[in-house]
Amino acid sequence: MKAVGIGIVGCGVISDIYLKNAALFPQISVRAVADRLPEAAQARGEAYGVAALTVPELLAREDVEIVLNLTIPAAHAEVGHAALAAGKHVYSEKPLAATLREAAALSRTAAEAGLRLGCAPDTFLGGAHQTARALVDAGRIGRPVAGTATLMVAGHERWHPNPDFYYAPGGGPLFDMGPYYITAMVNLLGPVARVSALASRSRDRRTIATGPRAGETVAVEVDTHIAGLMEFQSGALVQIVTSFDVKAHRHAPLELYGEEGSLLIPDPNRFDGTVELFDGEWRPQPTLHAHGDGNYRGLGLADMAAAIAAGRPHRASGELALHVLEVMEALLASAKAGTSIGIRSTCARPTPLAPGGATGEISSKEPDA
Ligand SMILES: NC(=O)c1ccc[n+]([C@@H]2O[C@H](COP(=O)([O-])OP(=O)(O)OC[C@H]3O[C@@H](n4cnc5c(N)ncnc54)[C@H](O)[C@@H]3O)[C@@H](O)[C@H]2O)c1
Repeated sequence: MKAVGIGIVGCGVISDIYLKNAALFPQISVRAVADRLPEAAQARGEAYGVAALTVPELLAREDVEIVLNLTIPAAHAEVGHAALAAGKHVYSEKPLAATLREAAALSRTAAEAGLRLGCAPDTFLGGAHQTARALVDAGRIGRPVAGTATLMVAGHERWHPNPDFYYAPGGGPLFDMGPYYITAMVNLLGPVARVSALASRSRDRRTIATGPRAGETVAVEVDTHIAGLMEFQSGALVQIVTSFDVKAHRHAPLELYGEEGSLLIPDPNRFDGTVELFDGEWRPQPTLHAHGDGNYRGLGLADMAAAIAAGRPHRASGELALHVLEVMEALLASAKAGTSIGIRSTCARPTPLAPGGATGEISSKEPDA
């Protein structure tokens, strides 16, 4: 198989795992990295033995076919458009763009140019979530009627040295973590038809707990507890709660209730974990799919590279990410307006991965323990 050439734009925190994991996937080969800060690109380039370039230099490289956009959300649209204009396919970290309007423009431009648009999260391709999908598709819980998606923590200022952006517009628990939870549910149930929500914030300032700025406070400009309800096109109703206001709780990250049984589904920010099925009693389920034993971030990119070569659709698609972004924006808009809001976009459920095999349908090596 001929590896597809990747150029990474954005050499911050998350670029490290993508560069490390590139060695796991024969479908891709990182050809160059770039950042608006030359020293950031230099550091990653040296650490991984790839060319460190400026962004225009990277976009001009003929051996770069996909631009992996790992910049901050506010720059996703700008960098994405530049890459598409240079004739490159784009795979972006989440969210697809900072706003639905920007993401929709990006998606239109990619479609018009005949170029692929892909987006994280790709954790729904992991072993745990593909196992849950297979159980649902096999009818093991019967027709899904309801579920819950729960991300409740006490706030990132407890561990992050610069948590400002989590409390600024575009941040908050829903935009930060919602993509994982909503994408996982769309993978299981299909697209969302309508949402409603209520939201609150417990305080106007947060105190940084660690690092050089410990004791300093940051302004809270967004709601920090969002309690929502998603009505799926299938009719299933899923409660989604995302919060930076909760010290502890005992909900599973995802629960799905069908007419014949129930599923407990592990953390959608991870590829591993054990699915539990209730069909008379609770039973842990074996993970029969690959990529359930470690951090395979980049799996969605490898799938997109393989899909380009095979001329088939890729799974972590721009269409899916655009739908998820619309759901998140609509939840916040509903909380503000006090009414339920219909979702205009739709998307196909991504094609499931076949079970079995040491390396799986999207072949890879195993990550270090
Ligand atoms: N850090 C994590 O744990 C994590 C986890 C999951 C997803 N993500 C996502 O990954 C993305 C990046 O997060 P991060 O934590 O690596 O951020 P970061 O701030 O550490 O790194 C972003 C990098 O992008 C560069 N950059 C910004 N604008 C640019 C532009 N216009 N052109 C070129 N370079 C530009 C910055 O200089 C910086 O080096 C975000 O979308 C985030 O949601 C991060």
